[in-house]
Amino acid sequence: MTNDLYAVVGNPVSHSKSPRIHSLFASETGESVEYIAIQAPLDDFAGTVKHFFERGGKGLNVTVPFKEDAWKLADRRTERAESAGAANTLYLDDHGALVADNTDGCGIVRDLVFNHAVALKDARILVLGAGGAVRGVLGPIMAKHPASVTLANRTVGKAEALVDLFKPLAGATRLSACGFEQPSEPFDVIINGTSASLQGDLPPISPGVIAEKTVVYDMMYSLQTTTFNQWALEQGAQYVFDGLGMLVEQAAESFRIWRGVSPATSPVIEELRND
Ligand code: ATR
Repeated sequence: MTNDLYAVVGNPVSHSKSPRIHSLFASETGESVEYIAIQAPLDDFAGTVKHFFERGGKGLNVTVPFKEDAWKLADRRTERAESAGAANTLYLDDHGALVADNTDGCGIVRDLVFNHAVALKDARILVLGAGGAVRGVLGPIMAKHPASVTLANRTVGKAEALVDLFKPLAGATRLSACGFEQPSEPFDVIINGTSASLQGDLPPISPGVIAEKTVVYDMMYSLQTTTFNQWALEQGAQYVFDGLGMLVEQAAESFRIWRGVSPATSPVIEELRND
């Protein structure tokens, strides 16, 4: 029996952990899956996607810098892709229409709630950043009905624009925007969704946002403790997590969409941590 073909498309893409994660899922579940990495030319994402599905490919993950292109290219979008404004998962439906989904938000929520036993309902959440990564996860976070979500960003106008966009989904959750320096009271959960650490920077937030029980989550991950998490530890945070679990959880959700099977994620997270 030949394996069904899946891939991650990006540029660059050689660093992607998705092929490793999905091959671990395939061995674990016994699903007949082959998963490769495809580097698309920067000016021809659409052609790459078309070619992949024409040759019989079953599903794609999409990474930097094509997530918004994937969203635009799709014939149909799931609700969570719609609110994310970006897609990381593509597949064809029974009628051959290209469907875009976004599993990033589901990934961070599952990592927090199931892997780290963090309650999001009624939590006071501080989110740092207002770019694509944050927009991608806000819908599923809001769906957990936190008491408040405070969006702090270097460019406050971008945080305000996200507040306007997500207000209709807010329900009883207090949703607000501000600069980094403004929040000074302790939060239950702090999520770093900025790309500051790529430049070795730290968002200049007050240490007052961290209390003994604050959960600090950096959407980035690295072999060593991330710059942001190192700072949080120095401020006395005790519950500090990086985004490796989110990465594996978003992959598991894509796998479930494509194959109808949910792989166990803990062994895969552990395996990757030891790589
Ligand atoms: P991504 O897809 O990773 O979210 P993005 O859309 O470019 O990338 O957003 C990057 C986010 O990190 C933004 O919130 C950005 O702040 P601005 O909106 O003010 O640009 C934030 N960011 C990037 N570099 C930063 C730095 N050195 N310090 C603080 N915030 C930074």
